[in-house]
Amino acid sequence: MATLQQIQSIFPTIDTIPEAYRLNQPLEQREYLVNGQLKIWLGNMNPIYSPVQVVKEDGELQPYFIGSTPMLTSKESLEALDAAVRAYDLGRGYWPMLTPEARINYLRRFVEEMKTVREEVVKLLMLEIGKSLKDSEKEFDRTVSYITDTINELILLERESDKVVREQGIIAQIRRVPLGVTLCMGPYNYPLNETFSTLIPALIMGNTVVFKPAKYGVLLIRPFLKIFREVFPPGVINVIYGSGRATVGALMESGKIDAFAFIGTNEGANQLKKMHPKAHRLRAVLGLDAKNVAIILPDADLKIAVSECLTGSLSFNGQRCTALKMLIVHENVVQEFLNMLSEEVSKLVIGMPWKPQVMLTPLPEPDKCKYLTEIVEDAKRHGATVINENGATVNGSFFYPAIVYPVTEKMRLYSEEQFGPVIPVMPFRDLEDAILYVVNSNFGQQLSIFSKSPTTIAYLIDTFANQVGRINLNAQCQRGPDTFPFTGRKDS
Ligand code: G3H
Repeated sequence: MATLQQIQSIFPTIDTIPEAYRLNQPLEQREYLVNGQLKIWLGNMNPIYSPVQVVKEDGELQPYFIGSTPMLTSKESLEALDAAVRAYDLGRGYWPMLTPEARINYLRRFVEEMKTVREEVVKLLMLEIGKSLKDSEKEFDRTVSYITDTINELILLERESDKVVREQGIIAQIRRVPLGVTLCMGPYNYPLNETFSTLIPALIMGNTVVFKPAKYGVLLIRPFLKIFREVFPPGVINVIYGSGRATVGALMESGKIDAFAFIGTNEGANQLKKMHPKAHRLRAVLGLDAKNVAIILPDADLKIAVSECLTGSLSFNGQRCTALKMLIVHENVVQEFLNMLSEEVSKLVIGMPWKPQVMLTPLPEPDKCKYLTEIVEDAKRHGATVINENGATVNGSFFYPAIVYPVTEKMRLYSEEQFGPVIPVMPFRDLEDAILYVVNSNFGQQLSIFSKSPTTIAYLIDTFANQVGRINLNAQCQRGPDTFPFTGRKDS
């Protein structure tokens, strides 16, 4: 079990960070990419601190300063937009007019170049967002596969649309075309993979792009700037940095963004979409909030349910949009389930991202531990208990997972997306109560059902098919395989 002493001594001193994962000096990144040129920014910079904090000689924790990125203004972001608008040229630019085969060749070259920066990007994923070495490598490799899969998928689609169709005496060819100038923004929990899952499809289809990296996981985009510049024609991809309000607001207000590919909160998406003066011209491709539920029926195989709920709620400290964020367990098995889950949580390895087998690491958002503490305290005030030993213990940017039980609708944890290592558990007696939780939720991404009964499962599949984008049977929620549809309903 992670003892209090282990939690309190989780952080390294600067010289105990392995050489391979330490920066010799902070990375001062002044470049940004506009119209095929790496421009140098001489204005204000945004300091970047790692979630990995370091212990000073006096034993105090201090932030680990790892670099800085440009705080561009609306002027530079509008320059980037102009470059994308010129490269698109109302659909008559070089890039949108290329054949899909020709664009595929650009992407093939990009993916080869990308492989050369794997080590650097993996190290920055670990330092910037605290993702474990294994998961950081997985994020990189999955992105490479995603690009290859996208290329292969487009080849198949193109074969289909090469065919001429005849319907009601009309001969036609149905083709896919670009949407226009696209703004791409990804989330901090997958700052490489999910950002590229907006960027790559946009590029391959002939759109031109303004890309703003996520809130955290920004420095890791730097190695790509030169590759973008060398591989793609000027203006096809432009990369900007800075506060969303100053940069992205101006882009939207210009009315020149045709497509908005965004993974983040629904509040963020709402605000930005409203700024666009031509609402009907703007196409939005969104991946937003989620509060995925696991329903554990009394006949479930508890060993499977516990193991899936453990990884489902705590992989990357619960910072996945697909994470299980509410466990609804039948009252006949809830006690046994809680005992088994607490036992499994206590076996998880805590530590820094480079530690072998580590699962629980520090959190990148500066106020996250405070927020998680607040929602746990709120639940306690309304009658819940943290049932696992040392649950909700905080040390600097590290939060030890808390299993909170019983959660009721009076508590913030009932409806807020915690996006962190807090596991709310709610008991149910009548299945209809569990169903109503899902039906009344503002979110509708995925859910998990744990049961051995084909009849119950069939009933619940029918019940939930119109509520969420994917139903997982005796398995956690997740996005992969990446060739499956990944959708959301309601505010998700
Ligand atoms: O954070 C949201 C991601 O789409 C989750 O992907 O289920 O593969 O971790 P994942």
